[in-house]
Amino acid sequence: MSQWTVETSDATKVVQNGNTFLIANGYLGYRGTLEEMSAKDFVAVNLLGVYDKHGDAWREPVNAPDPLHLTLSVNGEQLTDETPKLAHRQWLDLKAAVHHRQTTFELGGVQVTLTTERFASAADEHLLAGKVSVQVDRPAEVVIDHAIDPKVWDLNGPHFVDEKPITDGILLTTGEGDLVAVTQRVDALQWRSSGTRLSTEAKPGVTYTYTVQALVYTSLDVPAERLVSTITQGLHETDYQDQLAEHKATWAKRWDRSNVQITGDNDADLALRYSLYQLQSIAPHHLDLSIPARGLSGQTYKGAFFWDTEMFMLPFFLRTDPEVARRLLNYRINTLPQALKKAQHYGYQGAFYAWESQADGRDATSDYNVTDVFTGRPMRTYFKDKQIHISAAVAMALWSSYQLTGDVRLLTDGGLQVLIECAKFYYSRSYWSPLKHRFELLDVLGPDEYHERVNNNAYTNRAALATVQAALEGVVVVAKADPERLKEIQQQVDWGTWQARLSDYVVDLYIPEPDADGVIPQFDGYRDLENVFVPAVRDRLLKPNEYWGGAYGVASDTQVIKQADVVLLLKQFQNDYTTEQKLLNWQYYEPRTEHGSTLSASTYALVACEIGKADWAYPFFMQSATVDLTGKSKQFAGGVYIGGTHPAANGGAWMDVVQGFCGLQEVDGRPTVASHLPSHWQSVSFKVCVRGRWYQAQVTQDTATIQPM
Ligand code: BGC
Repeated sequence: MSQWTVETSDATKVVQNGNTFLIANGYLGYRGTLEEMSAKDFVAVNLLGVYDKHGDAWREPVNAPDPLHLTLSVNGEQLTDETPKLAHRQWLDLKAAVHHRQTTFELGGVQVTLTTERFASAADEHLLAGKVSVQVDRPAEVVIDHAIDPKVWDLNGPHFVDEKPITDGILLTTGEGDLVAVTQRVDALQWRSSGTRLSTEAKPGVTYTYTVQALVYTSLDVPAERLVSTITQGLHETDYQDQLAEHKATWAKRWDRSNVQITGDNDADLALRYSLYQLQSIAPHHLDLSIPARGLSGQTYKGAFFWDTEMFMLPFFLRTDPEVARRLLNYRINTLPQALKKAQHYGYQGAFYAWESQADGRDATSDYNVTDVFTGRPMRTYFKDKQIHISAAVAMALWSSYQLTGDVRLLTDGGLQVLIECAKFYYSRSYWSPLKHRFELLDVLGPDEYHERVNNNAYTNRAALATVQAALEGVVVVAKADPERLKEIQQQVDWGTWQARLSDYVVDLYIPEPDADGVIPQFDGYRDLENVFVPAVRDRLLKPNEYWGGAYGVASDTQVIKQADVVLLLKQFQNDYTTEQKLLNWQYYEPRTEHGSTLSASTYALVACEIGKADWAYPFFMQSATVDLTGKSKQFAGGVYIGGTHPAANGGAWMDVVQGFCGLQEVDGRPTVASHLPSHWQSVSFKVCVRGRWYQAQVTQDTATIQPM
C-alpha cells in the first residue's frame, strides 16, 4: 500500500513546517506556512531566478508578496498568534501536490473552523490558487480580509524600492530594476464583498467557501511594458476546479513515470515519495535554469545552484524526466561564458564554474561565507577560489548524460565545448612536479569543506582526470557523428594547441593511491592530522553553532571531515576500486565523518550497498530521505542561517534506492538491476528511461528484473 500524505498537528514548528509543507512548481515556491501568518513567520513566495542585492548584503532571490494571505475576525475579534487553537491539522497530499490545513479556533465567543487547500499550479507556472472554507458552531459575524500581503520575509532585504497598485494587485520594483507583479481574483458567491473584505452572518451547519486565483509574473518573463497587461488579462474566468484538475493531471503524469513503491517498509516508502515530491515540485519545468541548494524554500544559500544538482539530483531527472534533465544541463552550457571569465579572473584557462551559481552563472560565493560565532566577524573561506571540483561535476554530468541518453546533440549543441573548456581549466590549474614527473592539483578544497587549501585531494584529482578523459572521448564521438560541427568546435576551443597537452595529462595526472594499510588519504598529509573520531571533536565545541572548519575550526587540524569525500570517490569511480578497498575505506572514514552536509549520508548508503552491506546503508538512506520531514539538519554555518529544504538529500535518497538497493546500472544503454534490499524490505518497483525507452523494474529479496515497457 503506497502512502501519499504527510501530516502534522503541531503548528508551533513554524520554520520546519514551512519547509516540510512547501508547495512549488519550478517557478515559485510557497512555504508551508498558514494563511494568517506573515513575514515574521517566514512566509515566502520564493521566485526562481530573480535576484537582488540590498546594500552590502548578499545578493539573494526575491520573495514576492503573499496573495493567499488572510485576516480573520469573528464577532469583531481578530485572529492573532494568541488565539486558542482547539484542533489543528496540516497535511500535504503528495499525489495531487495540494496543501491542506484545518484549524478550529476559539474566537469571538464561537468555535470557528478554518479549512483551506492550495496549490502551485504545475499546469500554469504563474498560478497559485486556493480554496478557503469557514464553519461556526454558533451564529456569528465572520469577516475575512484577503488582501495581498506586501510585507515579505527577507534575509537580506528589503528588495523592493517601489510599490504601485494595479488592477487587482500590485507591481513592485526591485533594487536591481526588475519588476514583480502579483494579482488576485476571489470568487465568493456566499459572501458579501467590499474591496478585499468578505463578510457573512454565518450560521452553524453551513460551510462558507471562497476561492482565490493569484498570478505572479516578473519582467524576466515578459517585457516590462507588457507586464501589467499580461498579468491583469491573465486573471481569466477559468474555474478553480478546472485549474485544480489540470494541475492534478500534470502531477499524475509525473508520478506515473517517477513513483517508486517500496513494500515491507511504509516509512521508507513514504519518505522516498516525499523526496520525489520535493524534487518534482522545484524542478524547472519551463526554464533552462537549475535547482537551488535549498530548493524554492527561501533565500538561504543565496538561491544559488551548486554541484548538488549535477551530483545528486540529475541522476533522478535523467531517468524519469529527460526534459527537465536537459534544462538543467542547458543551464550549465548557457553559463559557460561566466565560467570562462571566472577562470580568467584567477589566471587560468578554460572553464571554472561558479561554486554558488546564480541565474546567469555568476559566482555568488562571498570571500567571507561564514560568520564566526564568537566575534561576529565574517570568516575568510575559500569555497569560491579553491573548490575546483565544481567544473568536474558539470563535465561528468554532461558526459554521463550523453552516455545514458545516447543523444549526441547534447555534445554538438554546446556540451563538447564545456567538456573541453573544463579540461583546459584543470590542465592550466595543475602543477607539473619536475621531481615527481607528474601533474598535481595543489591548494584546493575538496568536497569536505572543513579542510581548506590542501594538496592532491583524491576525489578532485580523479574527477579532473574523468573530465579530461570525457573531453578526449567526446571529440571522438562528435568526429564520427558530425565531423563538420567538430571542426567548428575545434576552432573555437583551439584544439590544435590542446589535444596533445590533454592526451599527456591523462597519463601524467597524479591519482592518490591507498597507503600501505589500504586507506586512501583524502589529501597529502591527511593521515598526519590528529586521529580522532567525531564525538571527540564535537566535545570541544564551545558553542553549538560554531563552525568546524576554516582557520581555527575544531575539525581543521584533525581527521574529522564534514562529508563524504574519499567515499564519494569510491561511489563516483566505483570500477576503480575493489570491494575490499571500498569496505576498508568506508569503515575508516565513517567514524571520522560528521555528515554535517546533507549530501553525505546518501553517498555512504550507496557505497554500503555496493559492498553488500544494505543494512548499514539503510539508516543513511533514511537520514537522507527524511531530512525535510524531521528537520534534522544544521540550521546554521557559524552565524549564517542555512535552513530550508534539501533537494540534494531528496535526490540522494532516490539514488540510494534505485542505484543502491536495486543496483540499477546502465552499460551501453542497457539497464540491469540487482537485489541489495535491506533485510526487512519485500520489494521495490520503479520505472526508468534509458536511451528514450522506458523500463519497468521489480526487485525482491531474491529476484531482480527490468523489462522494456
Ligand atoms: C556542502 C556543499 C554543498 C552546499 C550546498 C555545503 O554545506 O558542504 O558540498 O554543495 O552545502 O548544499
